Amino acid sequence: MTSPIRTERHDDVLVIISDNPPVNALGAAVRQGLDAAIRQGVADDGVAAMVIRCDGRTFFAGADITEFGKPMQEPGLPTVVDMIEASAKPVVAAIHGTALGGGCEVALSCHYRVAVPSAKLGVPEVKLGLLPGAGGTQRLPRVAGLKLALEMTATGNPISAKRAQEAGLVDRIVGEDSLEADAVAFAREIAAVRPIPRASERSVAADPAVVEAFTRENAKRFRGFDAPAANIACVVKATEVPFAEGIQFERAEFMKLMMGNQSAAQRHIFFAERQAAKIDDVPADTQLRAIKRVGVIGAGTMGGGISMNFLSAGIPVTIVEMQQDALDRGTGVMRRNYEASAAKGRMKPEQVEAAMGALTPTLDLTALADCDLVIEAVYESMDVKKEIFGKLDGICKPGAILASNTSYLDIDEIAASTSRPQDVVGMHFFSPANVMKLLEVVRGAKTAPDVLATVMALAKKIGKVAVVAGVTYGFIGNRMLMPRQVEANKLLMEGATPEQIDRVHVAFGMPMGPFQMSDLAGVDIGWHRDPTRIENIRDALAAEGRWGQKKQAGFYDYDEKRNPSPSARVAEIIEDFRKKSGSTVREISDEEIVERTLYTMVNEGALILEEGKAQRASDVDVVWIYGYG
Ligand code: 3HC
Repeated sequence: MTSPIRTERHDDVLVIISDNPPVNALGAAVRQGLDAAIRQGVADDGVAAMVIRCDGRTFFAGADITEFGKPMQEPGLPTVVDMIEASAKPVVAAIHGTALGGGCEVALSCHYRVAVPSAKLGVPEVKLGLLPGAGGTQRLPRVAGLKLALEMTATGNPISAKRAQEAGLVDRIVGEDSLEADAVAFAREIAAVRPIPRASERSVAADPAVVEAFTRENAKRFRGFDAPAANIACVVKATEVPFAEGIQFERAEFMKLMMGNQSAAQRHIFFAERQAAKIDDVPADTQLRAIKRVGVIGAGTMGGGISMNFLSAGIPVTIVEMQQDALDRGTGVMRRNYEASAAKGRMKPEQVEAAMGALTPTLDLTALADCDLVIEAVYESMDVKKEIFGKLDGICKPGAILASNTSYLDIDEIAASTSRPQDVVGMHFFSPANVMKLLEVVRGAKTAPDVLATVMALAKKIGKVAVVAGVTYGFIGNRMLMPRQVEANKLLMEGATPEQIDRVHVAFGMPMGPFQMSDLAGVDIGWHRDPTRIENIRDALAAEGRWGQKKQAGFYDYDEKRNPSPSARVAEIIEDFRKKSGSTVREISDEEIVERTLYTMVNEGALILEEGKAQRASDVDVVWIYGYG
């Protein structure tokens, strides 16, 4: 087998090149090749300096995750990075794409780093339940400082080349299209500089106040995960002990995480997310339809959020409403959301203007004639949706994709109201649609393969994680919620309280429990709207106007800041129902709540799989991770 590593001589500079598609992961063959190439450079008297760069779309994007959990093949990455750093001749990392994880650690072990402006550097191991285990936690703070090292390791978010340069992590930003030539020139400039700068020989001062503030500010984000604290502990260690001792600490912490359940689960999700993008019977090379303009019907919370996804990705949107005031209100909310992002520094003011400038608000449905994709986001009524799709059939150009954002309804029935059911698909966004990452793509009986492939590719472009679902009431996610709600209601009747049930769900790892979710979404959602018809606890709450957070009263009472407290009135209502139904009230254990609410969901997931409404078990996991947190 040919090595993925080759070398090229540019006079006295040896360029070491990795070609290991798709992302130059640092698998065994790459590590062996790097080891051999560095030795070659050190041994060759004609070589004054070395450059490491990668072919393809990116610099090394990390260790090869497929090797994790298997016996390690020598040399390990820690050995390779130590060898690079120990080189008696200077080594320059030439970075494009994303230098992530082990890739960033290779760069840190090089004596200098140059990068193109579009490059990103990061240590995302924490997202796999790990920490940078090839010296990254010890070298990064020594090069970039304590604060940035804490942020990069514990959040896992990458930083831009510019920010890396400001922090001293990148020595020079070079031309976007002249990386190799500029890196070779840089290598010549520094070839004779002695001593050679080595990250492990630097030191970084302790600063408990910085560590305390960082940990406090991120406590909520890190809740339930072991890896962030381990990353923080390793980085702090770098400020306290010599390098060699810090490395030992890092290794021990890394192995603990690697052997644990959390990392195994997070690695499963990494691959599950990528697997979800694949559709079993649709070839990967299916010709996609071009989506240059998107139409959205409805400027409410969903329609506005959906539109923002496309505008942020630079795709113009035509948004249609029935009344001018609703249209103005909807576009006003979008602008305020963008401005809030800008105020937090997540967008530049000119980006806000560019996004809003690409929005065409209108009251005229026929304005959708030139759209390549139209997404209907009006309220859940089959009759209304059928009427809209019937009209779209007459308005939209041939080949346009017609999508419904329905959360429950039958896509096939909607498709049947058009003369082109092959172009109809479900695109179920989760609220808030501009934030939540999940998109359930609902495949109707007649949905064309290229429609499905186009929507899946588009989802990736707008930063969503898409999962294909079949036509079934509530699709994957909401269908699984229903039996949980039924069981939670039964538990109330048998003696549990909303507070207990919600607490148990949060302790299990959910962001909120079923009654908190009900209050957030609106107790009145799907309610029959007849205050005299009171058949269950929900009807009783809705009839009294306890519609949830928006009314400061639902299953909980809320203050002006929406802080919840248990409601005496709700306890009375529950007690009334218990009496009426003659149910015997007893002490309910937390364990019983977990078993009865969560096992029912597992059952429903298994049924969904059995009926072929999800392609694979891991798709169900992806829905729950990205749709419900
Ligand atoms: N190892 C093995 N395979 C990897 C991989 C890795 N580190 N990174 C990506 N891949 C695979 C993906 O599974 C996918 O395979 P598929 O085509 O068969 O589904 C393929 O490469 C392309 O990946 P994406 O679809 O994600 O491509 P994108 O262009 O969207 O994103 C990326 C590229 C930003 C590099 C993204 O893949 C990514 O974030 N990768 C993971 C980076 C990471 O976590 N690195 C740290 C690894 S742990 C580590 O280094 C430990 C060390 O400290 C000891």
